[in-house]
Amino acid sequence: MPTTFEHEGRLGERALKAVVFSADEIAARVRAVAAEITEAYGPTEDLLVLGLLKGSFIFLADLVRHIHLPLQVDFIVAASYGNQRVSSGAVELLYDPGAAVKDRAVLLVEDIVDSGTTLERLIPLLEERGPKSLDVCALLHKRLTKLNREPRWVGFDAPPAFLVGYGLDYSEHYRHLPYIGSL
Ligand code: IMP
Ligand code: MG
Repeated sequence: MPTTFEHEGRLGERALKAVVFSADEIAARVRAVAAEITEAYGPTEDLLVLGLLKGSFIFLADLVRHIHLPLQVDFIVAASYGNQRVSSGAVELLYDPGAAVKDRAVLLVEDIVDSGTTLERLIPLLEERGPKSLDVCALLHKRLTKLNREPRWVGFDAPPAFLVGYGLDYSEHYRHLPYIGSL
């Protein structure tokens, strides 16, 4: 965890208000969630871990390395945000996974649940493809609304701030930060 924010400028770390979750806190929580996932599925399940890009790329990379089961990884790209800090509500599928979903245990990995629109639109699309099971693992959840289907696993309940780092962006910036900060 940085003791000072070192990078200057409008999009540097000094523009951040605070560290919300440190790299160490995240690492410990990711291991705990991965252990629960390992327990929940078991080694005979045909597990497909589907990362929602781009925000989940770091979380997914850390998570799957602590899931001790046979599994496959693929990605899905759904754009909902553009450059604004406020959700537009529209979800567009820009990349569809090559991996078949039918009859498989699918674990959808999301960076953060904000309004929940992305998940509420994506889940029915994936359900149509006949997975054996479909569960969501979200790193962060703002708990702003009650969803029809809540994520089965949540890393942290998030404060109602705009968060960046560990995959989360503001206008494509800050994804590389090893911690999660507020803007
Ligand atoms: P929702 O559809 O409103 O739940 O928004 C989900 C998506 O919006 C996430 O996958 C993020 O890409 C983005 N998002 C929502 N809140 C934040 C935030 O605090 N920081 C960065 N991205 C966010
Ligand atoms: Mg985003």
